[in-house]
Amino acid sequence: MRFLITGGAGFIGTALANYLIQQGHTVRVLDDLSAGQAERLHPDIHFTRGDVEDKPKIWRLLNKIDCVYHLAARVSVQESVLYPREYNKTNVSGTVAIMEAMRDAGVKRVVLASSGAVYGEQNIAKVHEDLLPNPSSPYAVSKLAAENYVHTIGAEWNIETVCLRIFNAYGPGQAIPPIHAPVIPMVVRQVLGGGSVIIHGNGQQVRDYIYVDDVVKALVMAATTDNISRQTINVGTSIGTSINQLVDLIEQVTNQKAQRIVTNVVSGGISTLIADTSKVEKLLGYTSRVTLAEGIALLVEQDKRLIKQF
Ligand SMILES: NC(=O)c1ccc[n+]([C@@H]2O[C@H](COP(=O)([O-])OP(=O)(O)OC[C@H]3O[C@@H](n4cnc5c(N)ncnc54)[C@H](O)[C@@H]3O)[C@@H](O)[C@H]2O)c1
Repeated sequence: MRFLITGGAGFIGTALANYLIQQGHTVRVLDDLSAGQAERLHPDIHFTRGDVEDKPKIWRLLNKIDCVYHLAARVSVQESVLYPREYNKTNVSGTVAIMEAMRDAGVKRVVLASSGAVYGEQNIAKVHEDLLPNPSSPYAVSKLAAENYVHTIGAEWNIETVCLRIFNAYGPGQAIPPIHAPVIPMVVRQVLGGGSVIIHGNGQQVRDYIYVDDVVKALVMAATTDNISRQTINVGTSIGTSINQLVDLIEQVTNQKAQRIVTNVVSGGISTLIADTSKVEKLLGYTSRVTLAEGIALLVEQDKRLIKQF
């Protein structure tokens, strides 16, 4: 098949693009490199630097494409609180631009990388797709709006649409910005480098961590499974892990002790977010395979940035 991956030079996009090219598909990537790194892409992938709102460029890239993976987005919950307009522009207007261009080019299917964040705080152990979303950040609002645009424009123009609500993905190559870094690579780097780990509040905040290869597997199935158009589907492991448990596990896997600094600043954010995975199991026949301990071991083995260079 022929794929265009927007945001394909990012963390999940690179893993997806490299997997698809190794399976013999044709892969084009569009990325503005605001966060991505083109050099991590397999040399046979056709890379174009550009913005998702650059319609002439997208039209060209969509020529003869069977399926678009729309992953390009600004991705930090905390940053979105400071810059909601930018999040709206990239994540919402950018999605509408991609849908318009797909309509004009006659592309038949799109898979959107949405987020478990759209659920927000819910009074239920595991969140399922029939719940009313309760987004609590501009990032989550932008992802929910993108889902709605994708399905609505898709229905108008007969484009098959699938939205995957991905939970907390982790794995080699994930960006570690100096502020608001994702928790797993940040803690692993601190532990391996002999640094300290800051735990906000009681460390009881629970998330559903999913290894990047399992996310890629779900993305591949979403592009190729029949009769799933207009579906919005959770992609997680259905297992919750608190920050305290996560640090314990990272200590076990790396065989090193972290210096824990507990602050009484309670970080905002949702207290518990765990995916109900019944729908993805039923519609895609999918279950995640990599346990959190295995995933952390793979991360430590493969991501050389995490070992502090003295
Ligand atoms: N990583 C996770 O835990 C997670 C969870 C849920 C959903 N998602 C979604 O998956 C997708 C990929 O996330 P990721 O973790 O790989 O993040 P990422 O930041 O590594 O990837 C996003 C990519 O989009 C590119 N991009 C940003 N703005 C762009 C624009 N205007 N035009 C073109 N390219 C642009 C960036 O350069 C980057 O390479 C995002 O849509 C994100 O919302 C990720």
